[in-house]
Amino acid sequence: MRLGFLGCGTIAAAVVRALAGQGHQITVSERSTQVSSALAEEFGDVTVASNQSVLAQSDIVFLGLIADSAPDILTELQFRREHRVISFMPDLTLKRVTALVTPAQAKTIMLPFPSIAQGGSPILAMGEDHLLRALFEPRDQVFLLEAQAELNAYLAAQAVLSPVALMVAEAGQWLGAHIADTDRGKAFLRQLVSGCLADMKAEDLVQSLNTPGGYNQRLRQHLEADGMVASLKEGLTQLKNN
Ligand SMILES: NC(=O)c1ccc[n+]([C@@H]2O[C@H](COP(=O)([O-])OP(=O)(O)OC[C@H]3O[C@@H](n4cnc5c(N)ncnc54)[C@H](OP(=O)(O)O)[C@@H]3O)[C@@H](O)[C@H]2O)c1
Repeated sequence: MRLGFLGCGTIAAAVVRALAGQGHQITVSERSTQVSSALAEEFGDVTVASNQSVLAQSDIVFLGLIADSAPDILTELQFRREHRVISFMPDLTLKRVTALVTPAQAKTIMLPFPSIAQGGSPILAMGEDHLLRALFEPRDQVFLLEAQAELNAYLAAQAVLSPVALMVAEAGQWLGAHIADTDRGKAFLRQLVSGCLADMKAEDLVQSLNTPGGYNQRLRQHLEADGMVASLKEGLTQLKNN
């Protein structure tokens, strides 16, 4: 397929990495020059072009722009009716994006995560999903959502990733102060957390780590007594309600 990317920042670059080397022709806009030129250097099927040339060379167009500036950028460009537009921007409805890319239509919101670059990543989606499934599954799994309220709840809940990463980072720092090889200790923790959660439901994992008086039970109970769970729920509710 001929795939184009407007915006070549964090998430667009990760999606390009997911799609490169699979027989597609990929054109990325010449912004974030270090990122876009590095992608073109690394992958023979990626080229860099102006925004309008991205559109000329693509049938499917991914919008990796910031929602605030996207209207000004998109209205300057000429889309074709046949373009299939996939937006990464959760803040703009499909109706709003369609108005900006007319005569093309935006039929899909795709919310990838940076780990899509390596594969095995979830993708949140609204609207039409068959193109996403054709492009990304089974490497990555598409979670199609029906309503904006559902998307808002998912967007709030996915933010648990950053505190989880912070906990692993802090535990790694702490471990590093007590062992000879800090990097080895951090690699151990990352593998432990990602491997266990990949293979087991979180609730089952908590249960299996509940040996009375064991390290895991003691640390979890210490954090729960400190208000961790209540604070997490309160934070999620605040995010959902904005
Ligand atoms: N990061 C994530 O994990 C994630 C996940 C899902 C969805 N999203 C959404 O994806 C969108 C992009 O996020 P991001 O994190 O990738 O942001 P980002 O790294 O800031 O990327 C924004 C991109 O837009 C480019 N840009 C700015 N003006 C432009 C123009 N006139 N023409 C073409 N490109 C232009 C920027 O180029 P310059 O660097 O040259 O300014 C940059 O490459 C956002 O709407 C975000 O909400 C992000």
